[in-house]
Amino acid sequence: MDYIFSLEFIYLIASITYILGLKMLGHPETARRGNLIAAAGMTLAILGTIFLYQGEVATHIYVLIGIAILIGTIIGWAVAKKVAMTKMPELVSLFNGMGGASAALIGLIEFQHYTGETLSTATILAGIIIGSISFSGSMIAWGKLNGTIKKPFRLPKYNVVNNAIFLVLVIFAAYITWSSSSSQLYLYILFFGALAYGILFVLPIGGADMPVVISLLNSFTGLAAALGGFLYGNMVMLTGGILVGSAGTILTFAMCKAMNRSLVNVIFGEFGNVSENEIENDSHSVKGDIKKTTVSDVAILMNYSQRIIFVPGYGLAVAQAQHAIHELELLLESKGIEVKYAIHPVAGRMPGHMNVLLAETNVDYDKLAEMDDVNPEFQNTDVVFVVGANDVVNPAAHNNPSSPIYGMPILDVENAKQIIVNKRSMKPGYAGIENELFYNQKTSMLFGDAKAIIQALISELKGM
Ligand code: TAP
Repeated sequence: MDYIFSLEFIYLIASITYILGLKMLGHPETARRGNLIAAAGMTLAILGTIFLYQGEVATHIYVLIGIAILIGTIIGWAVAKKVAMTKMPELVSLFNGMGGASAALIGLIEFQHYTGETLSTATILAGIIIGSISFSGSMIAWGKLNGTIKKPFRLPKYNVVNNAIFLVLVIFAAYITWSSSSSQLYLYILFFGALAYGILFVLPIGGADMPVVISLLNSFTGLAAALGGFLYGNMVMLTGGILVGSAGTILTFAMCKAMNRSLVNVIFGEFGNVSENEIENDSHSVKGDIKKTTVSDVAILMNYSQRIIFVPGYGLAVAQAQHAIHELELLLESKGIEVKYAIHPVAGRMPGHMNVLLAETNVDYDKLAEMDDVNPEFQNTDVVFVVGANDVVNPAAHNNPSSPIYGMPILDVENAKQIIVNKRSMKPGYAGIENELFYNQKTSMLFGDAKAIIQALISELKGM
């Protein structure tokens, strides 16, 4: 019975909830519940740590902890409640930055208590470096995503300079450890040095690459938390940190793979920064005429189709057209037409963006087809309706070896009988390149805001 009320048991239960929660996040149907289960486990671990702690704790410490929890809960709740789905990466970077800062602060406080203990000091200093990089890097990522920091900032030879700074930080931390120094000055030099590195690390990276960077920094925060868990011999902190660290790393590489880029290219490359001039002068730039179409023509086309596939992209999220497209889907189905959604793994701007967006409007999960499953189906499809998607349907990924997206897996929509593309203009998407799909003989462009266009299609179709 005693064991059930012990901290070890509570930590074991909390660790299990994290693993379960993470597993459940893997499917849209269970994701919400998984999140709640892991959050409940975290609450249990926090309460257990506060109330089952064996040492002496002054009352005012409990009051301070209570106030901190209250402030954090109110801010976290309020911000998360009102954040728009398109602003989610921003919020994640902010929360992730706080995690990194906490890990660094633990190190700053504990350093003086472990002087002379080599392993503990090394753990603390590693936690300070990684946590500080994660904090300052996440803040820059946040500034880039909300538009405060507009252009990538690059020092001359920034990649060499950055690597050199990182090396100096590691050597300096090793020196503090081996010399058993208790110098607070050294400690703060290391801390501010790591903060500066975090800023210099993220500043040169293009704003559109921020989701990958945030995922990478997220894995850093996990690692920093795991180091804290190792220092305190705290199993739940260790498990939580390792899970965050490994999930962040897996996600980072999964994103890079789906974008057909290496992590080095994300960090040091210049993706998506192509100027309009460069597009015009590109020898591979697409020449030809586009065919424009109208809402009523597309409504007629859809009305007489048997199989239609919707291809949602970033523009659907921008237009907040998820409810409208679901309504269109139901209307077409009521006319006996088969409708599906083709989901590209990096459509949108964050992992699972399209799944989350469509789940918000209760689209049946069976209707969401993954890229590899749906690609062979396009040839038997009457109409593909591309809504606010661009790069994920760009055939240059197959045909143009000099294209920055060459080799990236795409949705093979050009195999369908008819292709309707909805976007507002001929502007490129995230990769900043032209799309020859728009010039395909089978393609018709339906210009306009996705929500307005879909709503117009719905009213046309209702009258048929
Ligand atoms: P994009 O290639 O970025 O294209 C989105 C298109 O939506 C734009 O061409 C834009 O054209 C159109 N659009 C914007 N607002 C619209 C509106 N209100 N109504 C209708 N259309 C609108 O998007 P994608 O095809 O989803 O590809 C995603 C890209 O982001 C990929 O290159 C991917 O590698 C990258 N990326 C993804 C992630 C993750 S994890 N998902 C992370 C980082 C980068 P107009 O301006 O002409 O309307």
